[in-house]
Amino acid sequence: MTDLIKIMQQRQSCRSFSEKPVEAEKIVSCINAACLAPSACNTQPYHFYIAHAPEAVAVAAEYCKGEKVNKWVGEAKAFVLITQEHAEIPAANSEARKRDYRQYDIGLMIENFCLEATELGLGTCILGVFNEEKLKANFRIPSPKSIALVIAIGYPADSEIRKKHRKPLEEMITYLR
Ligand SMILES: Cc1cc2nc3c(=O)[nH]c(=O)nc-3n(C[C@H](O)[C@H](O)[C@H](O)COP(=O)(O)O)c2cc1C
Repeated sequence: MTDLIKIMQQRQSCRSFSEKPVEAEKIVSCINAACLAPSACNTQPYHFYIAHAPEAVAVAAEYCKGEKVNKWVGEAKAFVLITQEHAEIPAANSEARKRDYRQYDIGLMIENFCLEATELGLGTCILGVFNEEKLKANFRIPSPKSIALVIAIGYPADSEIRKKHRKPLEEMITYLR
């Protein structure tokens, strides 16, 4: 197994965190890794809002709790809110300008973030459920921006690596003729 596959196996959504605080520099390392991801026309159409101060973490946790999901987010020691930004695709590339690639770009970079976090011993959980309006209002994120995803971060409460459940590859692949 390659080192890369090992890290991919170890990366798992962490929903139970220890009391150990997360070093701010480690979050920046994860953002550096995230920004190494490819993006359409290299536009990097995202911005990272870090909740690391305890008051900011408490507010972020409050608004990432859903009615039925994410009850555990109060255990996270930091959050990164990712906003989807304008992608300035050059006018010369008129074909690429016809499509919006930003969600792909965000998907690519967020996995880089989580893999680097795993390498640094951190646990992460990508959150797609959160109260966007409350988060934006509380953190004064300009309202034309949308929050695409949030990442909850902390040191995992335990070291167990769960077995991954994925669709069998045979179901996922079609060879073209
Ligand atoms: C876009 C996206 C949104 C997600 N939203 C949530 C969420 O709100 N709450 C949660 O507990 N997990 C969330 N997850 C985590 C997935 O449930 C998880 O990645 C999936 O079940 C596979 O498990 P693994 O990450 O442990 O390999 C989200 C993952 C992605 C990629």
